[in-house]
Amino acid sequence: MSGSVSVSFVGCGGMAAHYLGVYRDLDWVRVVSCIDTDLESARKAAEVAGGIATQDFAAALGGDVDAVIVSTPNWLHRPQAVAAIQAGKHLLLQKPVATTLADAEAIAAAAERSTRTVGLYMSYFDQPLVHDLRDMVSVGWLGDLVHCYAGLMHKGGMMWSEEALKGHPTWRGSIEETGGGCFIQLAVHYIHIFEWISGAKVARVTGFTRNLHCPGLEGEDLAVAVLEMDSGAMVTLDTAWCANGEELSVHGTLGRFNYRNNQRLALASSAGPFEGRVARYTGGLTPAFGGPQGEEQQMEVRPPAFSDVANPLNQHRAFLEAVREGRPAPVSIASGVHDLRVVRAVYESARSGRAVEVC
Ligand SMILES: NC(=O)c1ccc[n+]([C@@H]2O[C@H](COP(=O)([O-])OP(=O)(O)OC[C@H]3O[C@@H](n4cnc5c(N)ncnc54)[C@H](O)[C@@H]3O)[C@@H](O)[C@H]2O)c1
Repeated sequence: MSGSVSVSFVGCGGMAAHYLGVYRDLDWVRVVSCIDTDLESARKAAEVAGGIATQDFAAALGGDVDAVIVSTPNWLHRPQAVAAIQAGKHLLLQKPVATTLADAEAIAAAAERSTRTVGLYMSYFDQPLVHDLRDMVSVGWLGDLVHCYAGLMHKGGMMWSEEALKGHPTWRGSIEETGGGCFIQLAVHYIHIFEWISGAKVARVTGFTRNLHCPGLEGEDLAVAVLEMDSGAMVTLDTAWCANGEELSVHGTLGRFNYRNNQRLALASSAGPFEGRVARYTGGLTPAFGGPQGEEQQMEVRPPAFSDVANPLNQHRAFLEAVREGRPAPVSIASGVHDLRVVRAVYESARSGRAVEVC
C-alpha cells in the first residue's frame, strides 16, 4: 500500500498516551478513532491525535481503518487482536502478547494467516543504545558472551496495591487479567533483548517469586530468574515493583557493557575503539589480573522519548513505515510468543522449585 495510513487506537490509557504524538506528527498518518471503555481517556487521546472518541470497539474494524494499535490490558489482547487481524487490519500489539500461551498462540496463528503487517510493540527497540549493543556483540567487540544481567524495578506495584486495598483495583492486580505479576510485565523486554543481541535461545530456567510489599496484588512483586542459554552463556534477570532501579550488563571474554538507570553507560574492551550510534569507546588498555584489559570509559546516554517521531528506530514509526511499504513488522508476534514461553517456564520453576526446560 502507498499513500496515507488510517489508524484506530484501541486502549488510550497510560502507555498509549506516551506515543500518540507519533501518530499526530506523521503527515501521512490519519487517526480515525480513539477507542476506550473509559470515554474520558478516548477523548483525551482524540484531542492529541485526532479522530472520533468512542467506547465502541467495532469502530476499529470499519472499512475506513487500515491499522489498529492495541494498548489494552493483557487479557483483552487475544479477542481484540484476533478480531482486528480477521477483519483484514494491520496490527501493532502491546507486549506481552497475552496472559497465557494458548491465547498468545491463537494470536500468532491468526497473524500467520494474515497478509497484513502484524507485529508486537517492543519499546526498548526505540533505543539506539540497544542497537549499538547488538553491533558490539556481532562484530566481536565484547568477545564471546559469558554473562548478561538485567534488573528492571519500579514501585508502581506498591501504588496499585494501595489503590486496590482502598477499593480501586486495576487489571494489574489480577493474575487472570495480567498473566502474573512484575515478571510477565517487565522481563519480556530483556528476554527479547538478550536473545536478539546474542542469537542464542533460552534453553532452561530457574525462577523464584515473592510478594513482599504489595498485599493488594495477586501476582509477585519480586522475581529472580536464572536463564541458561543454548550457547552456554548465563543470564540473571531480576524484576520488581516494590523497589526502583534499572541496570543492563553484558560481559564477554574481551569486554563489558554496563548501563544504569537509563543514564550512565560504562564500556571497557581490549578489542579497541567502537563507534556506534550513541556509544563511543576510544580504546586503551589497563593492567589487570589475568592480563591487560580495556580501560573503562563512562558517558551519559539518555533514551529517546516514546513520542520522538524523528527517531528512525521509533517502533511506532517503524511499524507505520512497514505498513506503508508492505513489509513485515519489525518485531513478530511469534517472537513474543517465545518470550512468553520463557516467562511461563520461570513461573513454573518458581511454583515447582525445579529447573524447567523451555521447549
Ligand atoms: N514499555 C512498554 O511498552 C509498556 C509499558 C506499560 C504498559 N505496556 C502494555 O500496554 C498495555 C496497556 O498498559 P497501560 O499501562 O497503558 O494500562 P492502562 O490501564 O493505563 O491503560 C489501559 C487502557 O485500556 C482501556 N480499556 C480497558 N478495557 C478496554 C476495552 N475492552 N476496550 C478498549 N479499551 C479498554 C482502559 O480504560 C485504559 O484506558 C498492556 O498490555 C501493558 O503490558 C507496555
